[in-house]
Amino acid sequence: MKRALVTGITGQDGPYLARLLLAKGYKVFGTYRRVSTPNFWRLQQLGIANKITLIPADLTDMSSLLEAVSISDPHEIYNLAAQSYVGSSFDQPLLTTDIDASGSTRFLEIIRHLNKNIKFYQASTSELYGAFTSQMQDENSPMIPNSPYAAAKLHSYNMARIYRNSYGLFTCNGILFNHESPLRGLEFVTRKITNSVARIKLGLQKDLKLGNLKAKRDWGFAPEYCYAMYKMMQHKHPDDYVIATGETHSVGEFAQLAFETVGLNWRDYVISDKKLHRPLDVHQLCGNHNKAQRILGWKPKVTFKELVKLMVETDLKLWQKHLAGEPFPWDAPNHSSEMDIVARNVTKDANREARAFKVKMKLF
Ligand code: NAP
Ligand code: GDD
Repeated sequence: MKRALVTGITGQDGPYLARLLLAKGYKVFGTYRRVSTPNFWRLQQLGIANKITLIPADLTDMSSLLEAVSISDPHEIYNLAAQSYVGSSFDQPLLTTDIDASGSTRFLEIIRHLNKNIKFYQASTSELYGAFTSQMQDENSPMIPNSPYAAAKLHSYNMARIYRNSYGLFTCNGILFNHESPLRGLEFVTRKITNSVARIKLGLQKDLKLGNLKAKRDWGFAPEYCYAMYKMMQHKHPDDYVIATGETHSVGEFAQLAFETVGLNWRDYVISDKKLHRPLDVHQLCGNHNKAQRILGWKPKVTFKELVKLMVETDLKLWQKHLAGEPFPWDAPNHSSEMDIVARNVTKDANREARAFKVKMKLF
């Protein structure tokens, strides 16, 4: 029986990938972080929580990763764990670097020393293209990161490539463009919109504050993207692949369609708030997945319209069930508003910033 170790099992992609691997007959081990309140709701929603062997591990802690690899003795490692929120990477650049850049190198070193036959999947990202906003991006496009998150991920992308070329390890970079689902975290713009649309429709919320409405993304459906990860790891030769739909839409378009799904006009509810703009954003992403289609036979199926509809309808159903008193594992009721997060909500005060800077420097 094949064994897979999936890091980030509590995130969006981990459970979808785990479900696929279980269906393919794998024994699946998943790493999770020890937290004071367990967050296995996604595994529970997919009905696979008791089918995964869980191992506590943190990407910043080499010994826990070593332990995870020793216990699972995997044929394949899918490194999905990350500080994956671009906005937070501006607040926590050092932590983001430790997790997203050094974390993958820790795994590559373990594989190099312990067992060179272990295949390694690195969750790379379209954020790598950053400031390169040509019409479309493919595997050969320049990578010019525009955030600490993307810079850290670029390091991991390169290390996976370098360990493949220098030590002959089987490493793949999946350069995945944005992919969404009803299991998406609530801080990401798509789910923030669909959750709010559901709440507004049910009279639980008045309006929706968003940041940059003009940013354009290539949004696909997460389970299909997890299938692409699996396909890369089954191919005879390790390589890097862009996974995308080839279509791009603005945040405003997403919001418009989401509100239309429940018969509302987005302009009556959406407020663009400068506080939610990033210090530096990526303006347009649109991926060319021709290589993946040609070599792996992979192509996207769910359309943008279908994705928006699915996410809105799922959130609406969940809130309706919640109002009817039905208990089930779910993230939305306990989610705090982004506007309550102090670091992103301070009015710029030069003196206060200077004082905060001094305090920070003392701590170093
Ligand atoms: P996600 O929902 O944010 O999940 C991230 C996972 O990483 C969670 O399980 C999280 O655990 C875990 N994690 C965070 N810090 C960790 C640490 N220090 N040690 C161990 N685990 C840690 O992300 P996703 O959407 O599933 O994405 C999966 C991967 O693909 C990420 O690497 C992301 O950067 C990358 N990616 C995502 C997209 C996308 O559009 N979704 C596109 C391209 C690339 P907790 O639950 O405890 O926080
Ligand atoms: N989160 C958020 N919240 N984003 C907003 C908002 C808002 O209120 N308003 C506008 N946006 C804009 C952001 O500025 C960004 O341009 C775009 O919406 C998408 O933001 P996110 O949904 O946070 O995703 P992301 O594109 O920054 O990053 C996601 O995709 C990457 C792949 O391209 C994450 O999943 C990353 O981990 C992933 O690598």
